[in-house]
Amino acid sequence: MISHDIHNIKLAADGKKRIEWADAHMPVLAKIRERFAKEKPLKGYRMAACLHVTTETANLMRTLKAGGATVALCASNPLSTQDVVAASLVKDYGISVFAINAENNKTYYKHIHQALDFKPHMTMDDGADLVSTLHSDRTELLDGIIAGTEETTTGVIRLRAMANDGKLAFPIIAVNDSKTKHFFDNRYGTGQSTLDGVIRATNFLLAGSTVVVAGYGWCGRGVAVRAKGMGADVIVTEVDHVKAIEAAMDGFRVMPMAKAAPLGDLFITLTGDINVIRPEHFIKMKSGAIVCNSGHFNVELDLDGLKGIARSIKTVRPFVEEYSLMNRRKVYILGEGRLINLAAAEGHPAVVMDMSFANQSLAAEYLIKLKKPLDKDVHILPEKLDNQIAKMKLDSMGIRIDRLTPEQKEYLASWEIGT
Ligand code: ADE
Repeated sequence: MISHDIHNIKLAADGKKRIEWADAHMPVLAKIRERFAKEKPLKGYRMAACLHVTTETANLMRTLKAGGATVALCASNPLSTQDVVAASLVKDYGISVFAINAENNKTYYKHIHQALDFKPHMTMDDGADLVSTLHSDRTELLDGIIAGTEETTTGVIRLRAMANDGKLAFPIIAVNDSKTKHFFDNRYGTGQSTLDGVIRATNFLLAGSTVVVAGYGWCGRGVAVRAKGMGADVIVTEVDHVKAIEAAMDGFRVMPMAKAAPLGDLFITLTGDINVIRPEHFIKMKSGAIVCNSGHFNVELDLDGLKGIARSIKTVRPFVEEYSLMNRRKVYILGEGRLINLAAAEGHPAVVMDMSFANQSLAAEYLIKLKKPLDKDVHILPEKLDNQIAKMKLDSMGIRIDRLTPEQKEYLASWEIGT
């Protein structure tokens, strides 16, 4: 039985066209869906998914359903839901969805509970709000859950903390940690979609501007490289010594935020940590500086602190709020500090989500087929499956590569041959 709480079912026709457009750019997922439809590896399993409700996610939901699963989907961020997609998933694809764009916190959590009301055997999370709600408010469901998957770096960090505290009640596959996920989705996906979000919200010109990128993980380096490619002078801030060296050797200026604050025209946080840009930084910024976050949670900008030094706040364009500060300068905050690539743009392009969601699909199948359950810990997908996705993606791109000769294989497995 389908149930839903969405904005407007009448939007379905537009959503369907968009879902099909994305599908045409997700050939690996489409192949998996074809096989799932024949083999039904997920038959009889109920899955609760807490993901950004986008066209790409819609194609993942179709894949899980084709595999025989009953799926309930809720949003993993209040601003990322594409209402047209939610409508089409319900109307055209018979999937239960609980997600409304710009829902408040109370509705966001109500929707998570509604997805959990399906009594899932498996969870699929992006940021770990679903798993955290299960472990705090819905513990009666824990016995019925065999395993889960997690999509993003922030969620993996939270789940590892739960496992370290001995609190994680079922095993999780960290899809984020697959090579075919973070090397591409985090780097090229976030790199492009973050700048896309900034540009859609502001019409900002990167060429000739100074862009401060906080965090040089896979997401930060994606943004830094792409901003440089579009002509920006990029400054990186870091707390990790090794990553700071990498940024320096990649050709970026590296300095503390306190030094970068007066220099930047655009600031982008991608650290996964809290209060990275604080009042002592905001107050030093040039008038007109634009500040946004592309990390998972809206905690990276200290907006309460910013309000404390602001004389007035007004919305000047969709997704753009002007803060007039005590020192008479103006600072512009995008998307309320929520992840700008999904708030003001459409998230990562389907071409990269193809690999991320191939990982999600194969992880679900792997967890169900396991003879012996995994430990209640955070695991990675077996390398064989990761490589299989890479091969399928290359095939879809029409790219062929060399194979090891028998002599090369033997050489790599030997230790006798040296200088
Ligand atoms: N995360 C980042 N981009 C996304 C997208 N397009 N769909 C789902 N999750 C995402």
